[in-house]
Amino acid sequence: MQAFMPLPENNVPTIMAAFGATGDLMRVKVIPALFHLHTKGQLPTMFRVVGFSRRPWSDDEFRAHVKGVVDIHTKGLFDATKIDSFLDIFSFQRGDFDEKDSYEALKKTFDRLDTEWGVCANKLFYLAVAPEFYTTIATHVAQSKLSEPCAPGGGWTRIVVEKPFGEDTKSARKIDEHLATIFDEKQIYRIDHYLGKEMLRNILIFRFSNNLFEIPWGKELIEKINIRVAESIGVEKRGPFYDATGTLRDVGQNHLLQIIALLTMERPRTFTDTAIREERRKALEHIKKPTLQHIQRYSFRAQYEGFREIPGVAKASNTETYFKVRVDIDAPRWKGVPIYMEWGKRLGEAQKEIVITFKHPRPCLCPPGKHHKNEVIIRLEPKEEILIEFWSKKPGYTLETEARMFHFLFRERGSTAQYTEEYEKMLLDCIAGDQTLFISTEEIRAMWRYIDPIVAAWKKNATPLHFYKPDDKKIVEEARVIESGVQTSARGYTSASRKRTTTHD
Ligand code: BG6
Repeated sequence: MQAFMPLPENNVPTIMAAFGATGDLMRVKVIPALFHLHTKGQLPTMFRVVGFSRRPWSDDEFRAHVKGVVDIHTKGLFDATKIDSFLDIFSFQRGDFDEKDSYEALKKTFDRLDTEWGVCANKLFYLAVAPEFYTTIATHVAQSKLSEPCAPGGGWTRIVVEKPFGEDTKSARKIDEHLATIFDEKQIYRIDHYLGKEMLRNILIFRFSNNLFEIPWGKELIEKINIRVAESIGVEKRGPFYDATGTLRDVGQNHLLQIIALLTMERPRTFTDTAIREERRKALEHIKKPTLQHIQRYSFRAQYEGFREIPGVAKASNTETYFKVRVDIDAPRWKGVPIYMEWGKRLGEAQKEIVITFKHPRPCLCPPGKHHKNEVIIRLEPKEEILIEFWSKKPGYTLETEARMFHFLFRERGSTAQYTEEYEKMLLDCIAGDQTLFISTEEIRAMWRYIDPIVAAWKKNATPLHFYKPDDKKIVEEARVIESGVQTSARGYTSASRKRTTTHD
């Protein structure tokens, strides 16, 4: 073992080994985020990315690829004075994921950089690969002792994994148990980029820094919560992955359940990663496991027309590209408050929002035909904003009421590309060792516990598959049927549910 200088306190020399360096994850998420961090001077001064992949590339070929990615991402409008220093960060290591020698070679590269810098640098293993490679890579990392710090007390090692984290409870547990034989939970960073979204990070501030909202937050005053995501994009080129996964597992198992955790968790002791993760876990564990009857009554799934024509999608595919399900929380604060989570691809204009509907006493002092409920809307897209709908007197001699809005614009959504901002924050947090925005092993388990029965029931066709025209939001109206708890039929929805068009009394 070499003798190294102690690590500087406020800079963290870090080497990131990027497995799957030439793949989509790196291209779409990691490289653009790193470029932004570099141009803002946010990366440690001693920072390297060693790309690890099967392609027989040289360092220069890899750098040319990285430059191409930046070019496309910025539409050629990048700061030209920053690009050379950015490309200097990257080097390439050809290797097979299951070949011992490749890891030995990686170790030599690490040793060379450590010697050059004169420190035992931190090592971040970023697995930008399909989940089936997680265990192979982690095993080799351990066997070649890459997971061990290069000097006593210096240089941490951490591993970053992407979603999907398993495809059900069993597979997720298997991956986790394996990772746990090599890394401590403190060293494992499981990404859910939704936790890196500004408006979602704002939920805890909104709730716990404004007593005005925290006190009524629960069954006494909240009637229901709707989390709605309409994406304009479709499955794009991800046919095989999407057909095997479906929307519920792609985004319900992670992003939407995490939003529910943020909305329903109890106040953390502090705003630290351990305290926040602990409360998120408890919130997720309070989600009721759905029974078959619940699934039949309270779930809705659909597929957009044309999905089956996408390369890699089975001609008779029954995979959902839209779903809505009701989630119930088994905790005193939330007893009886339904939470509907909904996500659809190819639904026209993108709209991502959380709507919290407040109760109002009955009978209320409302004019006939109107029921005075308040809504708080936390919106992520098209704008990042919070709206509070309230009732006011109309100006004039009478006491006529009208709905008005308090409007708080967090910021206009600029032209930030998908994923970049979230990945910037998350990469910095991996380096800084802050796990707030990363999912713990218990959270993963609790989320699959809710999802597994629905996947199984849908496989058996317990809930009919509906179809919708791309970019047509009518399906969202149809899915409202589950809010009335009326079982859906294979043909569509029942007449009883059709009557339910307004939320007024
Ligand atoms: C990803 C899903 O996790 O999130 C995609 O795999 C989805 O299918 C994406 O499009 C949505 O992310 P965002 O940040 O654009 O809302």
